[in-house]
Amino acid sequence: MVRNIVILTGAGISAESGVPTFRAADGLWEGHRVEDVATPEAFRRNPALVQTFYDQRRAFLGQVVPNAAHLALARLEAQWRERGLGEFLLVTQNVDDLHDRAGHNRLLHMHGELNSALCTACGAARPWRGPLIDDPACPACQRSGSLRPDIVWFGEMPYHMDAIGDALSRCDLFVSIGTSGAVYPAAGFVQWAKDAGARTLELNLEPSAGTPMFDEARHGPAGTLVPAWVEEMLGAL
Ligand code: APR
Repeated sequence: MVRNIVILTGAGISAESGVPTFRAADGLWEGHRVEDVATPEAFRRNPALVQTFYDQRRAFLGQVVPNAAHLALARLEAQWRERGLGEFLLVTQNVDDLHDRAGHNRLLHMHGELNSALCTACGAARPWRGPLIDDPACPACQRSGSLRPDIVWFGEMPYHMDAIGDALSRCDLFVSIGTSGAVYPAAGFVQWAKDAGARTLELNLEPSAGTPMFDEARHGPAGTLVPAWVEEMLGAL
């Protein structure tokens, strides 16, 4: 009997909403090498390029909406909570706000959020919808030119690791959706969950680097696989 569920999502769950994934066949992320836009060194070297890159991504959120997979996970969490079935935690590597808009109670953005700005002077993170390229003042300390995207870049520590580790150590079902399993620590969560005795399931377009570690893997588009799996879960209650 499943009580505690941890779900990890990656870029694949937002692909059918029109948000590009990271590891396209050309190895570029929307025309840029990852080292040019997603490292602290890149930001020091060329802050304007990095700010513009994330400003464009942030603005693009206005053109996309949650798809059937996001909505199905929100439905599952709502049922889990309403019926008091156990703990439900959704951990996403995505920096878009599509899970937020689908509606979740326990959602952790382990790689940060486009709709948040981080002050390099005072350390405050604040909701942010507009561009950062024109060096606005930090809403917390009023300093200008100190805000950066609140995104966890390569070489930086992901957020919420303690809460995620606690939930993984208590879960009896771990589901990984739409992630290539290429980036740690997220790629290691399946082993963490297995060590806790959980059943593990992968839902991804194609086999990922981590597929052999899962008890079960289903391959196909998230917009189809996730609603079907959620119906299966709810039907078994
Ligand atoms: N449905 C399901 N899965 C899909 C779909 C889809 N419609 N489209 C693509 N995928 C799968 C791909 O097959 C791939 O395995 O989603 C995965 C996306 O992998 P990545 O692009 O590597 O994204 P992700 O795993 O989220 O990347 C992890 O790397 O660049 C960093 O910090 C960034 O959070 C990101 C992290």
